[in-house]
Amino acid sequence: MPGAIYAEGLVKTFGDVRALDGVDLDVPEGTVLGLLGPNGAGKTTTVRCLTTLLRPDSGKAVVAGVDVLRHPDAVRRSIGLSGQFAAVDEYLTGRENLQMVGQLYQMRAKAAKARAAELLEQFHLADAADRPAKTYSGGMRRRLDLAAALVVSPPVMFMDEPTTGLDPRNRQQLWEVIKQLVSGGTTLLLTTQYLEEADHLAHDIAVVDHGRVIAQGTSDQLKARTGGERVEVVVQDRERIATAAEVLRNLGKGETTVEEHTRRLTVPVSGGAKLLAEIIRELDTRGIGIDDIGLRRPTLDDVFLSLTGHAAESADQDRSEAPHQQKERNGKEAVK
Ligand SMILES: Nc1ncnc2c1ncn2[C@@H]1O[C@H](COP(=O)(O)OP(=O)(O)OP(=O)(O)O)[C@@H](O)[C@H]1O
Ligand SMILES: [Mg+2]
Repeated sequence: MPGAIYAEGLVKTFGDVRALDGVDLDVPEGTVLGLLGPNGAGKTTTVRCLTTLLRPDSGKAVVAGVDVLRHPDAVRRSIGLSGQFAAVDEYLTGRENLQMVGQLYQMRAKAAKARAAELLEQFHLADAADRPAKTYSGGMRRRLDLAAALVVSPPVMFMDEPTTGLDPRNRQQLWEVIKQLVSGGTTLLLTTQYLEEADHLAHDIAVVDHGRVIAQGTSDQLKARTGGERVEVVVQDRERIATAAEVLRNLGKGETTVEEHTRRLTVPVSGGAKLLAEIIRELDTRGIGIDDIGLRRPTLDDVFLSLTGHAAESADQDRSEAPHQQKERNGKEAVK
């Protein structure tokens, strides 16, 4: 039996851009799927196809047991959506925005009012509840938009980058709300640029690139695929980064990544502590000063980088560029 969210071979083209190139997903009821991928990977397009906002060219989608292409109206009644860009009515107050959503869903006025008050409290908007939304900060709008998606607690929820633009405290609070929601049985698909968020909230993670799911599994499974430990070095002198990289390339077993501004180099290794000692000796021989060095297990960041050739959280910076031009593949084959 397919899960609460199911997609098979979704294809969507815009002119000559193949935004989705055969997306397959299966999200069991009551679980959270984190959709991760660089800018332009096709995350929003996937969400829009699954939520009936966009018709795929081909493929199949079933949400909450209903065929999305055949019965979009029925699907709309069983889902909640919070889009990548907050959709709130600027001229209504926070409270009015939420009450309006309740009424759209045919709640009684009294019930809509009570639900609005409850959500305003939960999302820390009670103090601003009776001000027009146009006076809200970006983070407040974001929270109002999410609250609006939760007015009717639908069985299946979609959240496209729910915490982008929130400060760390608000992000943490939202995670708590999401956990509560899921513990109540809601199935959730969320997209995120924050690997920590996927690690924290998602049962399963699907990595999307160029309109396809290139890897899927739990965070631990994905990390295990990326291989063993890494040696991470911070060199003292920026001028010596190139030489240090050469040392790591010779002794490591995989691609060396260099972060210029932090002077940090990372390389996958086999051989653990022994190899660490060897790297320290070699750097010392070449007179390269070290601020910090250590062995660490792979993070979800490493997974993302090795699969897509992109660091994840720096992706925010190149939002405005054409996504397929900025992409530089690292030559590694994606696993699936
Ligand atoms: N309405 C549209 N018209 C033309 N091209 C589009 C349209 N929507 C999306 N695309 C293109 O489809 C591809 C996938 O876009 P999508 O918005 O799904 O990416 P994303 O993974 O959500 O990226 P981001 O992380 O930046 O939100 C991109 O190349 C994008 O430019
Ligand atoms: Mg998007």
